[in-house]
Amino acid sequence: MNRIEKLLAQMTLAEKLGQLTMTAAGHAVTGPVIAGDSTEAIKTGAIGNLLNLVGAGPVREMQRLAVEESRLKIPLLIGLDIIHGHRTLIPIPLAEAALFDPQTWEMTAREAAKEGAADGLAMTFSPMLDVSRDIRWGRTAEGSGEDTWVSVQMARAKVRGYEGSDLASPDALAACAKHFCAYGAVLAGREYASADISERTLLEVHLPPFDAAVAVGVATIMPAFTDLAGIPMTANKKLLRHHLREQLGFDGVLVSDYNAIAELMHHGIAADLPEAAALALEASVDIDMMADAYRRGLPVALERGLVTMEQIDESVRRVLRLKERLGLFDDPYRRGSRPESQAALTHRRKLARSVAARAIVMLKNDRQTLPLPGTLRRMCVIGPLADAATEMGGCWGAAGRPEDRVSVVAGLRQALPGTEIVHAPGVRFSGEDESGIAAAVDLCDGADAIVLCIGEMASMSGEAASRAFPEVPATQRVLAEAVFERARAKGLRVVVVLFSGRPLVIPWLAEQADALLAAWFLGNEAGNAIADVVLGHTSPSGRTPMSWPRAIGQIPLFYAERPGGRPYNPKDHFTSKYMDVPNEPLYPFGHGLTYGHFTFANLTVTPDRVAEKDTIEARVEVTNQGAHAAEETVFLFTHDKIATVTRPVLELKGVGKVTLRPGETQTVRIAVPASELRFPGRDLTPVFEPGEVEILVGPGADRSQLLVQTLVLLAA
Ligand code: NOJ
Repeated sequence: MNRIEKLLAQMTLAEKLGQLTMTAAGHAVTGPVIAGDSTEAIKTGAIGNLLNLVGAGPVREMQRLAVEESRLKIPLLIGLDIIHGHRTLIPIPLAEAALFDPQTWEMTAREAAKEGAADGLAMTFSPMLDVSRDIRWGRTAEGSGEDTWVSVQMARAKVRGYEGSDLASPDALAACAKHFCAYGAVLAGREYASADISERTLLEVHLPPFDAAVAVGVATIMPAFTDLAGIPMTANKKLLRHHLREQLGFDGVLVSDYNAIAELMHHGIAADLPEAAALALEASVDIDMMADAYRRGLPVALERGLVTMEQIDESVRRVLRLKERLGLFDDPYRRGSRPESQAALTHRRKLARSVAARAIVMLKNDRQTLPLPGTLRRMCVIGPLADAATEMGGCWGAAGRPEDRVSVVAGLRQALPGTEIVHAPGVRFSGEDESGIAAAVDLCDGADAIVLCIGEMASMSGEAASRAFPEVPATQRVLAEAVFERARAKGLRVVVVLFSGRPLVIPWLAEQADALLAAWFLGNEAGNAIADVVLGHTSPSGRTPMSWPRAIGQIPLFYAERPGGRPYNPKDHFTSKYMDVPNEPLYPFGHGLTYGHFTFANLTVTPDRVAEKDTIEARVEVTNQGAHAAEETVFLFTHDKIATVTRPVLELKGVGKVTLRPGETQTVRIAVPASELRFPGRDLTPVFEPGEVEILVGPGADRSQLLVQTLVLLAA
C-alpha cells in the first residue's frame, strides 16, 4: 500500500474532513489566530490547510503543530493570494498583460513563487484567468483583459512560472487557476452577480484559458462564486466533474472560493449546510475554503445518504496527493527554511522596475510632449496620486510593505536631483473638498513641466469593487480642469499619469491632456518606472489589453465582436450604431504609443494554402521612422469571412515584438498553428472549415491600420 492509502486507512471521518478544510489564519505573528477556532484544531487534525498566513516564522510554527503534534502528522497546505508579487509587488495582472510578453509573465511568476516559497508557502491563488469585457467589474484588474488568446498565453506562462519544472522543488508553488468559469461575464459588471452566457461564448471565450492551464499541469482550480445560467459553479457537476475531470483528465485539487459552499444556500439550491456540502462534493470540489461546510455538513449528509464515504475518500486522496507532489511529506519545512540572498532580492527589484516601466501604456503624446528633458529647472507634480506610495501597490498586497513602495514624486526626485520638484495633492482621492485646488494650481506658475497624477485609488478595483461610473472621481476632474486651464493660460503642457485598475471612461481627459500615460497600478517600483518613461530612459511599450470606451453606454465593448447583418455604414441610417456616440472605442485593444514611429510594409503569409496540421508564418517589415529607439508590438489577427457560424471581425492569434533604432527596418515573423483557426461549429464541436481566411497584421485592433493577406484553408 502506498503512503496515501495507508494514511487513508487510518483516518477518522473528522481527520478526513480536516484535510478537506482550509481556514484563514490571522496575520498575528505572536500566537496565530485561526478564525473561529484555535491552534488546537491543527493538532487534532480538524484543519488540514490554511490561507492568509504571512511570514516564514508563523508558517513554520503552524506546520510544526501539524507534523509534530497531530496524530497522523500530515503536513498543512498553506496558501496565499500571491497575485502580483509576494513581497516585491509588481504591476497588477491587467497591467502586466499590457506587455504582451509570455516570457516575462513566466519570469515574474517564477520570482513571485521563489519569494512566496521562501516564506514557507506552498500555494498561490493565482492566476486569475477570467476574460473580462466589462470595465465596471472591479476584478478586471486581476486578469489579462478582454481577449481569450491573451488569457491562454497568460495561463500557460503563469502556471509554468509558479510551479516550475518540479512541484516538489523548495521554490515551487502550486498554482490555482481561477475563477472557473465565466466570472468575468457577471450581470452588468456587478460583482458576485449571476452570469448567463451562451454555450458558444463559454466554449470560445471563457473556457480556453482554463483548458490551457490544465494542459500545462495546473495543480489546483477554484470554481467561481457565481452561477452560470442558474447552476452555481461551486456545484456545477457538468463543468467541474465532467468537463475538467472526465474530459480533460484534471486530477488536481478543486478548492472552493471563500465561504462559497455555504453560499449555495443563498443561491437557493441548498436548503441547509449538509445539502450545500453534498452538492459541492458531488461536483468534485475537494477543499472547502472558509465555509466549514464539509466539517459540519458532510457527517449529516453521510447519514442522510446524500454522499458516500467513497466520495469523501476520493477528495482526501487528491488533497494528500497534492501534498505529496509538493514534497511536503518528505520534508514539510523544505520551503521557508532559508532566507533569500540579498542578490536575489536586488535582481527581483530590478525586474519589477523594468516590468513596471514596460506595463505603462502611452495613450496619447501630442507634439512629442514626452519624453521630458532631464534639464528641467522646476517641475510641478500635482494630484492625490502623486505622492501616494501605498496606493501604488494595487489590489492585492500579499506580503508587500508600504515602505517598499516608491511614489511618483519620490521616483522623479530620485531621477532628477538637480530639478526643483514641487508637489501638492490638490484634492483627496474622493470626497468633495475643493479647497486645496487653487493653491495646487498656483504651483504650476513658473514650472517648466507639469505632471498631473489622478485616477482611482487602489481599493477602487479588485474584488467587490464594481463601479457604475468607471471614471476619474468627480473632484479630481475639477482639479484637472483647473490645471489644464492654468497651463493653457501660461502656454505650458500637461503630462497626465492616470492610475486605475481598469480602462476608465475619460473622453474629456484624452482631449485635454498633452500626454497621457495609463499607469494602472505598477507595484513597488511604480514611481521609478514612471520616471523612467517620462524622462525617456525607457521608451513606453505597453499596449492596452482592453478597449477604452468613450461612454459608459458602450459597455461591454471589445474588439472581437461579430459583424451582424447591418454593420455600421455612415450612409445608411438603418445600420448598427448609437445616435449619440461613435461605435469605436476611445482607444482600441492593442493601442499604445512609443517614442519611435513605426510603419508596416510587405506582409507575406506562407504557405498560402494550409491544412489543419500545418503552421502558418506571417512576415512583415517594420521600420522605425522616429527619432528614438523603441520596441514595437505586432499583432496578428484573423477573420474568417464566410463560415457556417458567424465569426468575430477580428480574432487575435499571435503577437511579435521588435526593438528598432531610428531608421532601422526588420522583418517580424509570427508563426500560427493552423489548428488555431478551429472554432466550435454549428453543433459546437470543433471544426476546421475549408475556405478563405484573412490574415491581418499591424499595431492593434484598429482595422484601418492593418495589412491584409488571404489564406486558403484546405479540407482534411
Ligand atoms: C475570494 C476571492 O474571490 C479569491 O480570488 C481569493 O483567492 C480568495 N478570496 C482567498 O483570498
